[in-house]
Amino acid sequence: MASAWWPCLVLALLSGLGASGFPRSPFRLLGKRSLPEGVVDGIEVYSTKISSKVTSRFAHNVVTTRAVNRADVAKEVSFDVELPKTAFITNFTLTIDGITYPGNVKEKEAAKKQYEKAVSQGKTAGLVKASGRKLEKFTVSVNVAAGSKVTFELTYEELLKRHKGKYEMYLKVQPKQLVKHFEIEVDIFEPQGISMLDAEASFITNDILGSALTKSFSGKKGHVSFKPTMDQQRSCSNCTDSLLNGDFTITYDVNRESPANVQIVNGYFVHFFAPQGLPVVPKNVVFVIDISGSMEGRKLKQTKDALLKILDDMKEEDYLNFILFSGHVDTWKESLVQATAENLQEARAFVRNMRSTGLTNINDGLLTGISMLNQAREAHVVPERSTSIVIMLTDGDANVGEGVSRPEKIQENVRNAIGGKFPLYNLGFGNNLNYNFLEAMALENHGVARRIYEDSDADLQLQGFYEEVANPLLTGVEVEYPENAILDLTQNSYHHFYDGSEIVVAGRLVDEHMNSFKADVKGHGAINDLTFTEDVDMKEMEKALQEQDYIFGNYIERLWAYLTIEQLLEKRKNAHGEQKENLTAQALDLSLKYHFVTPLTSMVVTKPEDNEDMDAIADKLGEEREDTSVTPSWPYSTSYLSSPNPYYYVDGDPHFIIQVPEKDDALCFNIDEDPGTVLRLIQDPATGLTVNGQIIGDKRGSPDSKTRKTYFGKLGIASAHMDLQIEVTTEKITLWNGAVSSTFSWLDTVTITQDGLSVTINRKKNMVVSFGDGVTFVVVLHQVWKKHPIHQDFLGFYVVDSHRMSAQTHGLLGQFFHPFDFKVSDIHPGSDPTKPEATMVVKNHLLTVTRGYQKDYRKDISVGMKVACWFVHNNGEGLIDGVHTDYIVPNLF
Ligand SMILES: *[C@@H]1O[C@H](CO)[C@@H](O)[C@H](O)[C@H]1NC(C)=O
Ligand SMILES: *[C@@H]1O[C@H](CO)[C@@H](O)[C@H](O)[C@H]1NC(C)=O
Ligand SMILES: *[C@@H]1O[C@H](CO)[C@@H](O)[C@H](O)[C@H]1NC(C)=O
Repeated sequence: MASAWWPCLVLALLSGLGASGFPRSPFRLLGKRSLPEGVVDGIEVYSTKISSKVTSRFAHNVVTTRAVNRADVAKEVSFDVELPKTAFITNFTLTIDGITYPGNVKEKEAAKKQYEKAVSQGKTAGLVKASGRKLEKFTVSVNVAAGSKVTFELTYEELLKRHKGKYEMYLKVQPKQLVKHFEIEVDIFEPQGISMLDAEASFITNDILGSALTKSFSGKKGHVSFKPTMDQQRSCSNCTDSLLNGDFTITYDVNRESPANVQIVNGYFVHFFAPQGLPVVPKNVVFVIDISGSMEGRKLKQTKDALLKILDDMKEEDYLNFILFSGHVDTWKESLVQATAENLQEARAFVRNMRSTGLTNINDGLLTGISMLNQAREAHVVPERSTSIVIMLTDGDANVGEGVSRPEKIQENVRNAIGGKFPLYNLGFGNNLNYNFLEAMALENHGVARRIYEDSDADLQLQGFYEEVANPLLTGVEVEYPENAILDLTQNSYHHFYDGSEIVVAGRLVDEHMNSFKADVKGHGAINDLTFTEDVDMKEMEKALQEQDYIFGNYIERLWAYLTIEQLLEKRKNAHGEQKENLTAQALDLSLKYHFVTPLTSMVVTKPEDNEDMDAIADKLGEEREDTSVTPSWPYSTSYLSSPNPYYYVDGDPHFIIQVPEKDDALCFNIDEDPGTVLRLIQDPATGLTVNGQIIGDKRGSPDSKTRKTYFGKLGIASAHMDLQIEVTTEKITLWNGAVSSTFSWLDTVTITQDGLSVTINRKKNMVVSFGDGVTFVVVLHQVWKKHPIHQDFLGFYVVDSHRMSAQTHGLLGQFFHPFDFKVSDIHPGSDPTKPEATMVVKNHLLTVTRGYQKDYRKDISVGMKVACWFVHNNGEGLIDGVHTDYIVPNLF
């Protein structure tokens, strides 16, 4: 029995004392004389397992270590786990000879008394303390009687954050002795589908160990396993010490076909947002750099190296300036200057010449930089659609500074000067600084603080931070939900969305059984304003989440609680008095309810009283699409689309349909051309609008133009006056504003607005493009079953409003925008009795035409609405001006 075990062991987990860092996780075990294989100082650690389940970025990790005391006296066994500072421990249990001592989360004050008592009685207590950059260490030791077994089990959870395009999870591996069963098992489940997954261990240096590592992913699931045999763990072939010592890192990302993803389980939702393909918003960056005496030497050299690299990455659209502060303030330029090649050259010379001197005047350095940004904005020196940021680097303490040095006063000055207009990022270099002050100041100005560790890679840390904020794609991001439908929302407005990151919002539904969920994300892009709409199809979402074995319980509720506590603790850093008490009370309640060890709680261990896939787009829309060739009927009835505007469109095997409102009738014709051919549909020299379409064939690629089906697979819509081009394919939509492009997928629901232009993409359905009032086009997406042997996706193009287009408009559709007349006579049964024929006079030609039907898919993509029309044979010969080959153009634009 565990004779040397005390009735009460208190593990006061003093987490959150250090700086907040980023993901990592971990483990190690200590033992102290050498016996047979795997036994060190009498202790055999016979099993160690790290088991991680990651569901929708929320990681649940369990570290279990089993040991036996093979000595003939009681021994101390230690259990060390290094876990990310951003993680919360949620459970710890200790089992000695089959008796389990569970951990309970208690308010820190309540736990403290037990803790102090335990310590005063010389009893070991578990402790968490900062360890390295991103980790903190959990340590506990227990005395184990001779021959007894002990099991430690630690559980911790964290939300993995996306940085530079991927999620990263660190597991620190440091077993200190050979372990018979050593195992890391990671299961990842991401409803959006996994796009990449990698696992690396810093200690895997040879092929033998490499064979112990397997990693794989497919669809929504990813798996990483690392199981080195005892021989593989040896640092040399007959050594008895372990070479497992270092970081085990798993990185992955999810599919981004859609900018957002919403998941709802048991009344809680989480909304992930990370759009792709948008152009970068130009930045106005002021670097406020500490060059006080203490920066002398390596720190200054590394700062220079990093700044020089950053200058290389600056984009020509950006504006910048350097403010150097020591006892006084020096600026490179009087005001912000554009990052032209010459200016960058000059900036490099300036950076190389930076010399350290004197004291630290953070206050004046920051205020100079901030007022420069404010002035540049007011004087319209910087572009209207640009965003400003201040990046401050210091290694010092404001308290030893010159000028205003009281942190509260500096914070107040900075807060007032910025006025919430742009974020402040504070980088704290080294340890000799008041990091809490830097962090509080950054947080209250919508930025973050980061520690730059004094080490050989400090320049890379600096540069790495810059890369994270270098590419803002959206500013002023607001995530909106229907009013009165949502409770307990986490932060839903952000100054920036940076490329490679992700916005995560979680909350609770008022009505758990609501059957629809809609969210809008609004933001300002480099060129235009965007509104992304997420309309959750509950059935589709439930289907995506039907992988019960990969999901641990109520993970969304826990994710929400994690995020809420994290944000409450952050807000608390700048709160005072009653407000601070309230934030504390809320964070404490949640920590206790969800069993999280946060800076407000502790875990106490007491002895009991004796005791397939997302990609299978199951969306078979149009799988057996009805043949769109003319399907006549007799006697013919006229079923017209009742539309206030005349309509012109081309859809299906390119069928052109021209409505003639004066006649209450319509004309239609086909164009048979080879795949690859580009046809001019609209050209208006007055408004500068052009629309061209490129033909694709079906999958068979039949060479016979009579039986072959062709469609439009690509459309080019251009406005010469706006210097705008929109390329629409069956996969994506690309907007070009001059040389700047924004890319959207057909999985988006988004509205883009700029100078009278409005483009709305309706997920998987259609796209509506309006050039002000009076010109509106609709592009319809026809999706066929992906594995269909013959058909492939194609596009339909509809002109629903053209009244602002000029009389000079031409093209296969455009020439019909102005009134024209035709006469039909002599209707009689044709050679095929079901197809009535007639004689038509149009544009001074006498034609034989056939009655038929076409379909209009604008309203209903799968069924379509029948439109009766007179079909003009031979590529519209006689109806169109000239011959159809006159409309062939070399390129889409
Ligand atoms: C803590 O872990 C133990 C052992 O796995 C388990 O029995 C217990 O239910 C867990 N407690 C909580 C609150 O999850
Ligand atoms: C390991 O093996 C080598 C060669 O077989 C031998 O020379 C060496 O003494 C061995 N070392 C130990 C620690 O047993
Ligand atoms: C604390 O917060 C709750 C919920 O927001 C609010 O109802 C209450 O009035 C607040 N109390 C104080 C003292 O601010």
